[in-house]
Amino acid sequence: MRFDRLGRPLRDLRISVTDRCNFRCVYCMPKEVFGSDYRFLDRKELLTFEEIERVARIFVGLGVNKLRLTGGEPLVRKDVEKLIALLAPLGAELTLTTNASLLAPKATALAAAGLDRVTVSLDALDDETFQAMNDVDFPVARVLEGIDAAAAEGLPVKVNAVVKRRLNEHAILDMARHFRGSGHTLRFIEYMDVGATNGWRLDDVVPAAEIAERISAEFPLEPVDPGYRGEVAKRWRYRDGAGEIGLIASVTQPFCGDCTRSRISAEGRLYTCLFGLRGHDLRALVRGGASDDELRDAVAGIWGKRTDRYSELRTEATSALPKVEMSYIGG
Ligand SMILES: C[S@@+](CC[C@H](N)C(=O)[O-])C[C@H]1O[C@@H](n2cnc3c(N)ncnc32)[C@H](O)[C@@H]1O
Ligand code: SF4
Repeated sequence: MRFDRLGRPLRDLRISVTDRCNFRCVYCMPKEVFGSDYRFLDRKELLTFEEIERVARIFVGLGVNKLRLTGGEPLVRKDVEKLIALLAPLGAELTLTTNASLLAPKATALAAAGLDRVTVSLDALDDETFQAMNDVDFPVARVLEGIDAAAAEGLPVKVNAVVKRRLNEHAILDMARHFRGSGHTLRFIEYMDVGATNGWRLDDVVPAAEIAERISAEFPLEPVDPGYRGEVAKRWRYRDGAGEIGLIASVTQPFCGDCTRSRISAEGRLYTCLFGLRGHDLRALVRGGASDDELRDAVAGIWGKRTDRYSELRTEATSALPKVEMSYIGG
């Protein structure tokens, strides 16, 4: 295993396979910024599936045991199941985060290719709120179909909901009620100051503690011990046995001290923090003829120097600093 300067091992790699998305979630890709004149990456700028497999193999060799495909929306990348088939033999747990708009037609191919589990983002159960958030009139029912299709293929499903004050607070209880007892773990995420385009304000964050209180008032909860070091979601279980929920308190209770994650953008830049600015250009090494040993040494060197802990240092002032967009780096 490789440790950074703060003693954190490199365990996770999140791979953004595209910076494009068919949604325009207001907290991630607001239309005013990601409109028709926004310049997305060209196809030739993206790492190819073979390049991604090579990079991922290097990371697994350095101790990564979890690979997550993300984006943008990973299912809009053509033939993404072929990438899954390439990554599956590496032996790390293989997961994908998706808005599920294309999950129903793709679930069978994804499972057959070797995907281990899936995380679906869904922020409300009523169309009015969900559509105000995805901003492309996408209906809730089709996301639920995607979840059912994945579950029917035997894929364990987690559902992630970002909570933004005054936008979808009422969805907290709706979602808890709906997913209790379903076997799918629901996780609430505090709205974060990623990127520079979503106009984030601390006042828009609904603290995880408040989310837990609201749910517990109707469905009593008790805490569950973390499953492993670096587990970002604080786990709670329903006292009546109807399953678990998770709370990701990235703003009010930052977990940088246990952060074992690295991220590569769709064009192959390595970020050691979600709040990084520039990243390290792995594509230049890959396309410049670097050997596996050289690539491994470069990644190990970058991780070995890592000191990032942005969320622990966050203030209103740092949140205004330039940052990479969530849709580029993948969350
Ligand atoms: C950037 S998306 C990429 C994958 C896919 N398109 C999806 O939505 O699941 C990954 C995750 O980041 C979350 N996310 C995006 N912007 C966020 C923000 N400002 N604060 C907290 N979570 C955010 C999304 O809700 C999603 O669960
Ligand atoms: S959160 Fe996911 S679905 Fe929403 S705009 Fe961002 S990348 Fe797209």
